[in-house]
Amino acid sequence: MPLYGGTALDGVYEAAHAGGYGFIASNITHPEIAYGLLAGAEASNTDLVLQVKRDTLEYLGRGNVANGLDVVGTSLDALAGDVGVFLNVDHVDATDEELRQIVTAHSAPASIMIDASDRPFDENVAETRTLVEEVRAAGDALVEAELGTIAGTESGQTTTDAAYTDPAEAVAFVQQTGCDLLAVSIGTEHGVAAGRDLELRIGLAEEIDTALRAAGLDVPLVVHGSSGLSADQIAALLETGVCKLNVNTRYQYEYARTAAVFYREHATAILPPADVDDDRERLFGDADWAPDRAVFDPRVLGREVRERIATVHVELASIAGSRGRSRCT
Ligand code: 13P
Repeated sequence: MPLYGGTALDGVYEAAHAGGYGFIASNITHPEIAYGLLAGAEASNTDLVLQVKRDTLEYLGRGNVANGLDVVGTSLDALAGDVGVFLNVDHVDATDEELRQIVTAHSAPASIMIDASDRPFDENVAETRTLVEEVRAAGDALVEAELGTIAGTESGQTTTDAAYTDPAEAVAFVQQTGCDLLAVSIGTEHGVAAGRDLELRIGLAEEIDTALRAAGLDVPLVVHGSSGLSADQIAALLETGVCKLNVNTRYQYEYARTAAVFYREHATAILPPADVDDDRERLFGDADWAPDRAVFDPRVLGREVRERIATVHVELASIAGSRGRSRCT
C-alpha cells in the first residue's frame, strides 16, 4: 500500500476523537526503527502515524532535507503494508522557509506540524495561519500547531521553562488559525526527564477539550513528550480529547539498549582476544581465532532491534486503544 494522505488521516483522527482512543505518533530516527514500527502496526492492526523532523531528513538525505523527504516518502510508499501508514513532518520551525516550502510541495506528508510556540500569541497565530493557507492551497495535508511551551530537549535544543496552555487562548488560537490538530503543553517533557519537576495536568487537557467543543471546534489534542508516560496516565489523557501522543525518545532508548546488550553478550565473537594480532586487513586469516559472521552481520542486530521496536509499539498501541482498529485495511 502507498502512504495515505490528509483526507484519510482526518477520518482516522475523527473516529479516534469521537471514540475516545488515540494514536502513538512515532518518530523515525533510523531505518530499523521504521521497519520495527511497520511490523508492530501490522501485528496489532492499527493505523500508523510516523514522524520525521528536520534532523532526520538531513540524516537520511546526507545533509539535504529534500532528498531526505524523497527517501522517506519513496521507502514508506514501497514498504507500507496492510494498515494505513501516514507521514507527519514534526516541528517545522516557523522561520525555516526552506523546510516549509519542501514539505508543503511534497506529496508524502499527510500532516505537517508548524512550531511557532516560542513566539508571542499573535505571532504564533500569524505564522500558523500562513502555513495553514499554504498547505490548503497545495493539497489535503492536515496542519498541527502548538500553543504553550513544552520543556525538555528536542533535536539538541533545550527548553527549560514550560508554559501551560490556556484553554481560552486555545479556542481563540484554533478559531484564528484554522489548524486541524492542537499540541498543548500540560506538563510533559521532550527527551529523558531525569529528576522531572513538572506537574502533569490531565485536568487541563480536559478543560481545553471542553472549551474547544463548546465553541463548536472538533480538534483532536496532541501531547508531545509522551515517552515516559505510564499506561494509566495515557489512559487518563485519552478521556480528555487527546488523540495523538508523540513518542521518540523511547524508541531511541530501546534501539540503543538492544544494541548494548547484544554487543556486550557477543563481544568475544567480534573483538579479537588480547594475544591475537588486530589484522583486520586479512580478516585474521593467519590467526587461530576468527570473528563470527553469524554475529557481526549487521542484519543480526537489525532484526533484534526491529523485533523490540515492534513489541514496544504493539504495547503502546494497545494502551492508546488503536490496536485492532485500522480503518484503512
Ligand atoms: P519524547 O521525547 O518524549 O519521545 O517526545 C517526542 C516528541 O514529542 C516529538 O514531537
